[in-house]
Amino acid sequence: MPAITIALFDTDTPLRALREEIRARLSEVLERGVYILGPEVEAFEREFAAYLGVRHVVGVANGTDAITIALRALGVKPGDDVVVPAFTFYASAEAIVNAGARPVFCDVDPATRNVTRETVSAALTRATTAIVAVDLFGSPAPIPEIRELGLPVLEDAAQAAGAALGGRRTGSLGDAATFSFYPSKNLGAFGDGGAITTDQDDVADLARALRFHGSRDKRTFEYVGYNSRLDEVQAAVLRVTLPHLDSWSERRRAAASAYAAAGIEPYVSPPAVLPGAEPAWHLYVATHSRADEMIRGLAEQGIGARGYYRVPLHRQEAMAPYAPSAGALPATDELARTNLALPMSPALGPDQAAQVVAALAALRPVLSSSARSSPGPARA
Ligand SMILES: Cc1ncc(COP(=O)(O)O)c(C=O)c1O
Repeated sequence: MPAITIALFDTDTPLRALREEIRARLSEVLERGVYILGPEVEAFEREFAAYLGVRHVVGVANGTDAITIALRALGVKPGDDVVVPAFTFYASAEAIVNAGARPVFCDVDPATRNVTRETVSAALTRATTAIVAVDLFGSPAPIPEIRELGLPVLEDAAQAAGAALGGRRTGSLGDAATFSFYPSKNLGAFGDGGAITTDQDDVADLARALRFHGSRDKRTFEYVGYNSRLDEVQAAVLRVTLPHLDSWSERRRAAASAYAAAGIEPYVSPPAVLPGAEPAWHLYVATHSRADEMIRGLAEQGIGARGYYRVPLHRQEAMAPYAPSAGALPATDELARTNLALPMSPALGPDQAAQVVAALAALRPVLSSSARSSPGPARA
């Protein structure tokens, strides 16, 4: 197997130019000697709120806690049902169980890979008190339409920092939204980190208390909460990288356009985006009916590719108590089998995109084009 020449993602190259600035900021934190809930977190919360156009940002320890805390802050109680797509990272559903509620899995649109108003509607029960809509792979979900269903919508924007829909940034579309700053995310820290964003004062206030053991004054405890804070080191790094997020997202969009310009379409089914959406392309995920063979064939040509969520959430062992009836989520099952993520990063130039497409073309005699995956419309 040759060495990988075009990696699936590249978080290092974009950060290289910022190393000196990050070192300087980290040494300021060291000099100050304040590591938890200090001026860096406060400033980052203000700056990220301004970037997103929301009233509040609450920094927490990771994107999973962010979902659990945000759901509780939105009023989700033990015994409630919360709708969530089955095609997403495990944490989107795990966090619902950790909030004491029951995940109800819904299907996704096979072309956008995201939930729709219809797939969510089909999963609503009398006990549903909230909906988790994921901006999967950095592509905005149709959250304004889903909000028309009249239930609180939590936007899981973990993968979508830098995206927008209808001119509004992802992370500002739901009643509240959550982010992960895991290092490989589009806005990544140097360890774990996360945030809750909202325009609603009461939701932000409760989330702030819940991240600190359910306390507002650090002496009296109104709720059983969490020890879940963004730390000063991570906030300091994020304050350096946030001003670059838009240019990195532009470069990711240019890379996606370069795939189209290089003629990727006959070889795989590329991802579709909603009208008015500007995806952040956390991952560029195509489909092909023989995806795993294609991934192996690309690796043999030095190109990183990977299938995501091959075992979707409703088929994970820990989610067995919440699994719907067999065959209930056909688009999820099909996507889980046929998806393949192709290289994507702000550092991926048009020549590399063309090289990936050439590698796909070279596989054509082996994997006939008639085997392209076209999973058809979503059915819930
Ligand atoms: C869609 C989605 N939701 C939630 C999370 C959880 O974030 P974290 O790893 O920071 O807990 C992730 C992270 O991978 C994610 O991709």
